[in-house]
Amino acid sequence: MKRLLRRIIYEGVYAWACIGGSVAFNRGFAPVDPGRTIDAAFSNDLSQIQLYAELVRLLPNSDREFQDLSLLDAPAGCGGGLRHLKNRYPALNATGVDTSLVARLRSKWLGVRVVKGEMARLPFADKQFDCVLCVEGLFYDPPAAFLREGHRVLKEGGYLLVAEAFRKDRDVHAYFSQLGTQTGFEIETIVDATAGVRQALHDRYAHFRESFLLRIPFVRERFKEMLCLPDSEQFLKWQTGKLVYQLVMLRRRTGDVRA
Ligand SMILES: C[S@@+](CC[C@H](N)C(=O)[O-])C[C@H]1O[C@@H](n2cnc3c(N)ncnc32)[C@H](O)[C@@H]1O
Repeated sequence: MKRLLRRIIYEGVYAWACIGGSVAFNRGFAPVDPGRTIDAAFSNDLSQIQLYAELVRLLPNSDREFQDLSLLDAPAGCGGGLRHLKNRYPALNATGVDTSLVARLRSKWLGVRVVKGEMARLPFADKQFDCVLCVEGLFYDPPAAFLREGHRVLKEGGYLLVAEAFRKDRDVHAYFSQLGTQTGFEIETIVDATAGVRQALHDRYAHFRESFLLRIPFVRERFKEMLCLPDSEQFLKWQTGKLVYQLVMLRRRTGDVRA
């Protein structure tokens, strides 16, 4: 029931976002690199695309090596992150997966490949990818189920990159260390991106202030937490430091996962 409701909400959000010209749906990161405006598709989502740029910056591959990688974005949403990566590395073999039909239709328009599938049941063969990205999708299915799937579809030594929000009192290193032991990964890097995310959330309010729909009290009440509007508990938690944002790079260990 919860899954169905989430699905319906996402379809609605994406339908609305598409009309508004959005191509990504995450908390974003600021400041945005100069030059991010070159692709007009990103004009409403510069900080959301920047978050992808910050995440892949963790990878050790040089630009030349990156061209030859095969990469999965799970969940990819509308595919804005994939489009950024394809712009930057045209030969990259990039695929996304998402449950939302509207997001997948939107990705076609953006010229990137996003297929139907769930985090805990990735519709791909074993050892197919060099890298798997997960921007704000870790908790939709049980994280261990997703990481096991990540381990299955990654080549030996491949990377799983996660961008996610956590409560400040959570020991993120211990969390991923334990999860990694169960699912066949070791931690390579953890970078605290809280300041950049907090800034992006703050800046984004100016964009939502223009929205006619969000002036309707019923709509605003339903979506304020998801969109992190300034009158939401979420916004307060970010601004008072109760939530943090981490970029995590895990490396797939060789061999099978322990049961
Ligand atoms: C916060 S959005 C992030 C999307 C994308 N990474 C981005 O930054 O634009 C979360 C996405 O997860 C998708 N989703 C939710 N539950 C899912 C599941 N069980 N399997 C795959 N995708 C799921 C939603 O449809 C939505 O597109």
